[in-house]
Amino acid sequence: MGISYHENKRIFKLDTPKSTYMIGIVDEENFIGHVYYGRRVVDEDLSYLLRTSEGARVPSKNNRDRVSFMDSFPVEYPTHGIGDFRETCLSVKSKLGHSACSLSYISHRIYPDKPKLTGLPSTFGDSESCTTLELICEDKVLKLQVVLVYTVFEKLDAITRSVRILNASEDCIYLTKVLSACLDMDNREYDMLTLYGLWSRERMINRRRITDGKQLISSLRGISSHQEQPFMAILDKDANEDQGEVYGLHLVYSGNFMAQAEISQFGLLRATIGINPVDFSWKLEKGESFISPEAVLVYSSEGIGQMTRTFHDLYRSHLIRGEYRDKKRPILINNWEATYFDFNSEKLLSIAREASRLGIEMLVIDDGWFGARDDDNCALGDWVVNEAKLKGGMPYLATEINKLGMKLGLWFEPEMISPDSDLYRSHPDWAIQIPGRTGALNRNQLVLDISRKEVRDAIYDSISKVLHSANIEYVKWDMNRCLTDLGSACLEADTQGELYHRYVLGLYELQERLISDFPQLLLENCSSGGGRFDPGMLYYSPQIWCSDDTDAIERLSIQEGTSLIFPLSTMGAHIADCPSHSNGRSTPFATRGYVALAGTFGYELDITKIPEEDRQLIPEQVAMYHKYNDLVRTGDYYRIASYQSNHEYDCIQVVAKDKKEALVTYIQVLARPNYRTRRIRLKGLCEDMIYRIEETGLVLSGGALMHAGIQIDNMWGDYLGKIIHILAVN
Ligand code: DGJ
Repeated sequence: MGISYHENKRIFKLDTPKSTYMIGIVDEENFIGHVYYGRRVVDEDLSYLLRTSEGARVPSKNNRDRVSFMDSFPVEYPTHGIGDFRETCLSVKSKLGHSACSLSYISHRIYPDKPKLTGLPSTFGDSESCTTLELICEDKVLKLQVVLVYTVFEKLDAITRSVRILNASEDCIYLTKVLSACLDMDNREYDMLTLYGLWSRERMINRRRITDGKQLISSLRGISSHQEQPFMAILDKDANEDQGEVYGLHLVYSGNFMAQAEISQFGLLRATIGINPVDFSWKLEKGESFISPEAVLVYSSEGIGQMTRTFHDLYRSHLIRGEYRDKKRPILINNWEATYFDFNSEKLLSIAREASRLGIEMLVIDDGWFGARDDDNCALGDWVVNEAKLKGGMPYLATEINKLGMKLGLWFEPEMISPDSDLYRSHPDWAIQIPGRTGALNRNQLVLDISRKEVRDAIYDSISKVLHSANIEYVKWDMNRCLTDLGSACLEADTQGELYHRYVLGLYELQERLISDFPQLLLENCSSGGGRFDPGMLYYSPQIWCSDDTDAIERLSIQEGTSLIFPLSTMGAHIADCPSHSNGRSTPFATRGYVALAGTFGYELDITKIPEEDRQLIPEQVAMYHKYNDLVRTGDYYRIASYQSNHEYDCIQVVAKDKKEALVTYIQVLARPNYRTRRIRLKGLCEDMIYRIEETGLVLSGGALMHAGIQIDNMWGDYLGKIIHILAVN
């Protein structure tokens, strides 16, 4: 396993347990060709796949038709303006205004370990778990050094890629496009799987055939967005949950991105992913470097389900950090849907008292505790407790809440500024805006220019002051609008194109500072629901609020799409009141609990006002969480049935790594008359192990549970659910 270089053949072979990735250096000019990515093979040389002896041949043998070669050769990192007319990854503006760029291989390094990407989130590993290849390439004319960095995970079918660019010339160069990865492969009637959505309906699964031309998903909103996830899977047209080849590409980045599948004239498929080049440019002075975000490549020859499980394992062990990564999170109650802006200390304490009596462990005070914030029109940026509303401020509340045996958590929206705020009145130029233009408001707010250090420092100081003032153990970091009217008061005309990326770097720096200064803090990211649920943010917070849609039935699809790539431990999920504030639907309290159990699990309702029969269920739900959360957080996830596709019922299963325990969650969305029991075939168990179903006492082999299945009675009524706990007996 790991990475090997076969010098005589000029082949790099990157092996994971079940996949091989091969790169070939070709011809006198040292072109870097993409040879193969797929199921693991023992061979050291598959360079015939590059087709260099067919048709156009290599330039050294046929330079009169160089363009034909450039436009068909499968490239590791294609560059702009030299005859490759497919989507390229790198484009520049040189001192003379030229955009072309041409790379050839110079040397390489192979070493155990994985380098950090300065200022950017990335997966991590050590010399035991990772091997890295750096391909050092150069554009001789521009004197640009481009290092293609690949890391192989020894135990997971995952490879990461990023690019480091150094300006080794005497002049400044502008980068106008830097993508993170490209995959050139023969098209085999592949499908493309992406996650699309909008506010309250994030990450719906979309599968479609890749046809001629380009199919692009992207964001230009300054955040990864509700609308598209920086993720794309290329999969066999017949691939399903359990079989078929799947290539997953995910960008560890929280800003503008593009991911694209393109079929070119010869039926070659080119998949690309990286920072969206629209409105992007980066000035590199002599000696300066630029680092691209990391792209994660996951290969599965066992269907979509295995891709999911690899992403989950990778992110749980090699992306998420901190105190809470491997720990049960405190069961929280958040006051947003309970009170919105209408609360005071007494109201919050009455919620906390009842919550603690029933076993809930943390009270989170959401929006409205600071400045003059009594609605969502003002005060963002004024991070000072409103003591008229909250008598005694945070120290008093924290003390009272701690006395109840609970923790206290607090909401912030650090990246924003309300025009009606003290902060804006003293620093109007701190908002992102274009001089002379009235910036577009969204939720009556503007975005702070956190690309500026003094802005970051001021915001951080006011937030950390609040956090130091009392025992606050959780922060919900919200972000409720996209970026528009891009302009920074501190950038020159030729560097304004850096603002989107500098904003994201500023965000990462702020969050890094927060978790370093408060290492015990549980941070939950959020963006108007799930608008920035991406692997970049996961590097800083082990959980992210999934969606403002808290209706349990809607959540089935949202959580299904999210868990396609993100572990269940990361999905912020709460039991909310009914009729649902999202859509007016009423679902049984128990069902809401089963759905939230597949995420972080918490409450978002006025516990002092909900019906008594619901309240009585809370201790049972709390016990259920404590019983199953270790399994849910750490186990292997299987999709058994999708309500998003069958429109009737949903079923997921989590299996312990040692296969001795499993939990099945079944939700019957729609009841139908005169139906017989439904048969559900389980997955991921051990064929020969004998299991006992806790609820029925039935004893069966793993083989029987998986191939014959279990029967689930038709339940009387819509929106009902149950969980089925399976334990090995031998
Ligand atoms: C959007 C979040 O998604 C909600 O949970 C809540 O925190 C509101 N913002 C508060 O303004």
